[in-house]
Amino acid sequence: MKLWGGRFTKSTNQLVDDYTASIHFDKKLAKYDIQGSLAHVKMLKKCAIISADDADMITDGLHSVAAKIDSGEAVLHAEHEDIHMNVEKLLTDEIGSAGGKLHTGRSRNDQVALDMRLYLRDTILEMVQLLKDVQASLYTQAEANQDTVLPGYTHLQRAQPVSFAHHLLAYIFMFQRDVERLTDSWKRVNQMPLGAGALAGTTFPIDREFVAGELHFDGLCENSLDAVSDRDFVVEFLSDASIIAMHLSRLCEEMVQWSSVEFNFIELDDAFSTGSSMMPQKKNPDVAELVRGKTGRVYGHLTGMLTMLKGLPLAYNKDMQEDKEGMFDTAETLRGALGLLAPMIETMHVKKESMYQAVRQDYSNATDLADYLTDKGMTFRESHEAVGNIVLHCINENKYLLDLSLEEFQTFSKLIEADIFKALSPEAVVDARKAYGGTGKESVKQQLEKAEGLLKENQDWYEMKFKYL
Ligand code: ARG
Repeated sequence: MKLWGGRFTKSTNQLVDDYTASIHFDKKLAKYDIQGSLAHVKMLKKCAIISADDADMITDGLHSVAAKIDSGEAVLHAEHEDIHMNVEKLLTDEIGSAGGKLHTGRSRNDQVALDMRLYLRDTILEMVQLLKDVQASLYTQAEANQDTVLPGYTHLQRAQPVSFAHHLLAYIFMFQRDVERLTDSWKRVNQMPLGAGALAGTTFPIDREFVAGELHFDGLCENSLDAVSDRDFVVEFLSDASIIAMHLSRLCEEMVQWSSVEFNFIELDDAFSTGSSMMPQKKNPDVAELVRGKTGRVYGHLTGMLTMLKGLPLAYNKDMQEDKEGMFDTAETLRGALGLLAPMIETMHVKKESMYQAVRQDYSNATDLADYLTDKGMTFRESHEAVGNIVLHCINENKYLLDLSLEEFQTFSKLIEADIFKALSPEAVVDARKAYGGTGKESVKQQLEKAEGLLKENQDWYEMKFKYL
């Protein structure tokens, strides 16, 4: 018999049970469901809504149910639909009819909202930690590559040389904004919905503040209808996750390019590469490709969730049961990607010499020649034109700027002197970008210092919340 079977004269069709059950995925919430129930029963006891004896029995019972679910001993049934009713059924099997008092003043609607929030709190913490690990691996490589110069690109055409440290730091700052989005969302996730009942609140003299305190929530959901029908905190997580996935995908795309023979800028460690079943010479960046590919499912979950919610009248609708699988899969997808990327970045071999050769064989110092002439008195437009002519001459002669002799340079402008060779060297070109935020050595040092501070802040935030939960 169903927990809600009283007003029914027949049992449900087996197909309905199978179709409406969520236990095969919401069993992931068991730990949070029991955590919430323990706080709820403590409150019921404190407010004398149920007797102390019953409350103590329920508490003990919930602990043994938790242990049995953990060990795999407890059997969860689709017939009991979801994790909430499965736990209640296991509890009554364990302690008898007193188990039926646990649900006093509560509905599955506020219960599931609570479980989702507890789950997301843990997930956000974990994601912050994983992002921090990726940032740390980028930091290690950046620190070691302050003198490594490679071409910087716009339109995927060589543009101006940059230091590899500068390039990696760009990702550290992207992931920092991702961390900040997550830590900011925390304050909206960490609001306590229990006490909203099915939709209108409850007639029992409950103490919501007490439950919030027990579960370390920062505040209470203010409106019972909102508390049970709002899932924007899940949408927010999925959109934060989508931005993370987009950043990861761009980084991975670069790693795929860099490890090609055409670029030849990095070699991924054997432990993070795969081979081909047919072509013995192949070493493929499968991990980076899959991270890039899995971006699609993360975006998909965001779109699915927004679409599922858009037409729903207040308050709870069964459609909302569809909020879970995408959320779980998103967390799982990011967990896999972030967990792999940190060691993959840390162990990648940076081909400094090959990067340097690439910079030597391009015209990415042309802007610096124009700046040089501007410095000596030409307007920037005139020097732009002059350098354009020099580059064209070089292309026709199959040369790069640094292959020209001083005499050749001077046929284009008498302003060019012997110091031009030093000024156009890749190191000098990079280092000349001294303005704040540029690729110059000092600026990169400042960025590294800043990044180090941010990594520490992220770790502190994690430890503070972790302790507090
Ligand atoms: N399994 C349900 C869900 O995840 C729990 C809430 C069910 N509430 C209800 N009134 N049927 O959405």
